[in-house]
Amino acid sequence: MSTPEGPHVILNANLIPGGTIGSPWRRSSSDGAYFVTVEHYADVARVAERGLLDAVFLADSPDIQAKDWNAPSRLLDPIVAQSVLSTHTERIGLIVTATTSYNDPYNLARQFAALAAVSHGRAGWNIVVTGGDAAARNHSLDEAPAKPERYERAAEFLDVVTALWDSWSPGALVADRATGRYLDPGRIHPISHDGKHFRVAGPLKAPPLDDGRPVLIQAGASTHGVELGARTADAIYTAHADIDSARRRRAEVRALAAAAGRDPDTVKLLPGLIVILADTEEGARRRERELTDLIPDHVQVANLAARLGMREEDLDLDAPIPWDRVPAEESADGSRGQRAVFLEFVRDRDLDTRGAARLLAGGGVHNTIVGAPEQVADHIETWFRTGACDGFNLMIDELPSGLEAFVDTVVPLLQRRGLFRTEYATTTLRGHYGL
Ligand SMILES: Cc1cc2nc3c(=O)[nH]c(=O)nc-3n(C[C@H](O)[C@H](O)[C@H](O)COP(=O)(O)O)c2cc1C
Repeated sequence: MSTPEGPHVILNANLIPGGTIGSPWRRSSSDGAYFVTVEHYADVARVAERGLLDAVFLADSPDIQAKDWNAPSRLLDPIVAQSVLSTHTERIGLIVTATTSYNDPYNLARQFAALAAVSHGRAGWNIVVTGGDAAARNHSLDEAPAKPERYERAAEFLDVVTALWDSWSPGALVADRATGRYLDPGRIHPISHDGKHFRVAGPLKAPPLDDGRPVLIQAGASTHGVELGARTADAIYTAHADIDSARRRRAEVRALAAAAGRDPDTVKLLPGLIVILADTEEGARRRERELTDLIPDHVQVANLAARLGMREEDLDLDAPIPWDRVPAEESADGSRGQRAVFLEFVRDRDLDTRGAARLLAGGGVHNTIVGAPEQVADHIETWFRTGACDGFNLMIDELPSGLEAFVDTVVPLLQRRGLFRTEYATTTLRGHYGL
């Protein structure tokens, strides 16, 4: 087990097929279908590893969403995809999103233990509770259970999974040729869990987690979500349009973690960061326009309607947003998820329908940097050094080319400023995160 690295800025690559901004696939020379293949994922992961990034992250939702009709999306099951990427890479972390609402804890504990084994400790799990009725209807339900119930199930689910991961004590795999004993029953224990949602005997059938547990990640924004993350997660994903709200969230999460008896330094706050990079700021702004213009108007309307939860025919790009028809947020407890942050941003800036559609086409309300390498490095340095975050989930405009530019121009700047590793000093994701 390698010694965790010192305080570096954490950088994940959010693997959005083709890229975050608009429709890069429409101007790519690659075959259009390339972007949903594991070959595309591997190309991105290799560039990310060449840049010494911490991890590649695969978001997921077990349903086809409005935006998937008009752009390549993560069609591949993320555990299968990351297992393949583990053979195309050596050091970079492999983060998979999986839902606690439509999975079984024994199976998921086993799949993540297997990913940890085949990648030698590079697995991470982004724990989600999956909102929306579309996913529920793929799992024998008519509608999604209420959010508090989804988080209650998630909390028990996590307890079961971590207990199963701990059901093997070190040295359980003895492989003693003399006695013929392969496993030591004295070191492998049932968990005998009997809870409201699950009854699980255990132990887990999986290779020992010699390189440590998969890293746990959560991105909840509601009271339930933030509480679960602060109590259990190693890293928290967030969406912030400005540095002050990030700083507030980090302080809140650290305080909740301390109140739960944890060392606050063991919870990393990782906001999304949209990066549009070119040699000059002017070039980057031109690139942003070109990529956003690649999304046809009807697609921009469809994506905006989906984000707002409205019918497409109620939106007109050349008219103001019909606020009286925008449904209220599904939040019994003041969720500040991406939709809420997006609505507030659009309202505060009084954007019209086209303005809101372009904002969404540009990646939505995540903090965004459009500029030259120095400007991108400055932005990252300011957020990190002033305590607004522990790192970022990079949302690169166009993949893999935009990431290549980031690796070749921004990473060296961050290294010179002592902000980023110059080599992988650890072999596991837990080590990369300094955990
Ligand atoms: C950077 C980031 C990545 C996320 N990835 C996913 C994802 O892959 N799948 C998913 O269902 N939800 C994802 N979410 C949504 C969160 O899990 C969560 O549902 C949302 O932030 C709202 O919080 P709440 O559930 O506590 O209301 C993500 C959120 C953020 C900020």
